[in-house]
Amino acid sequence: MDKIDQYAVFGNPIKHSKSPQIHTAFAEQTGQALHYRAHKVEVGRFADAAAQFFKNGGKGLNITVPFKLDAYDFADELSGRARRAGAVNTLALGDDQRIYGDNTDGVGMVRDIKDNLGWEVHNRRILILGAGGAVRGILGPLLKQAPTQVTIANRTAEKAQTLAEMFAERGEVQGGGFDGLAGRQFDLIINGTSASMSGDLPPLPSQLLSNEGCAYDMMYGAEPTPFMRWAAAETAWAVSDGLGMLVEQAAESFCIWRGVRPDTKPVIDMIRQSLS
Ligand code: ATR
Repeated sequence: MDKIDQYAVFGNPIKHSKSPQIHTAFAEQTGQALHYRAHKVEVGRFADAAAQFFKNGGKGLNITVPFKLDAYDFADELSGRARRAGAVNTLALGDDQRIYGDNTDGVGMVRDIKDNLGWEVHNRRILILGAGGAVRGILGPLLKQAPTQVTIANRTAEKAQTLAEMFAERGEVQGGGFDGLAGRQFDLIINGTSASMSGDLPPLPSQLLSNEGCAYDMMYGAEPTPFMRWAAAETAWAVSDGLGMLVEQAAESFCIWRGVRPDTKPVIDMIRQSLS
């Protein structure tokens, strides 16, 4: 009898990862026999741990902080979106025994915003806060929703400018510091900074949101983030955290591995309940 297919998420820390719950729910829902676990990897040991996992018959990995660049280097082949993101969150063993690296974060966020929340992305003025790895991961899929106008604002203005230049040929994108935002208005603001983790908020001028402006935080938790509270106080038309993005990026990984797209709605509801 064949052994059950093995999957895992590698990260550090990993204790609070929701990925095992999410993928186990997808497997049950779609009738797929697989086992998915969370594995803490020591920093500097990613390549060894991943090689061991696949050598032992593992079929696919999710990769989270701080190993997305290690996974990028580890893959034998990279998808275009992984290359553009400069990071890999999904590794898959191909039939040819090669390891394929992909990045499903950006497409997960766009699906959550468009399909789950029903927010318009076309022809919108979009502001992205932050210019780190998380933001680089979402720019390609977001600019694909053309025509959009994307502005990246970051504490370190040069990093936003560099990102804007990297993606310039894919759409209308500009970058700078927070001080350039005064007097401007946006239809969608996405927080991709890690400021929420320390309870902080980037310095934002008021009246940054247009009349029907929406606010999306890539972070999630049991309580609204500082950015979400700011947006609500600015009377945003709608506000969301990034829990849907987490489940959608997982669904895209599941689809890459198993060739089946799970229904994300009940899983988002289940994870939401487990937070409270
Ligand atoms: P990630 O992979 O989560 O994107 P990162 O690459 O370290 O992590 O990027 C963190 C982002 O959050 C950066 O844009 C950072 O701004 P700087 O480039 O100026 O460092 C931003 N950030 C972190 N803490 C912040 C804070 N308190 N206020 C504003 N921006 C913050």
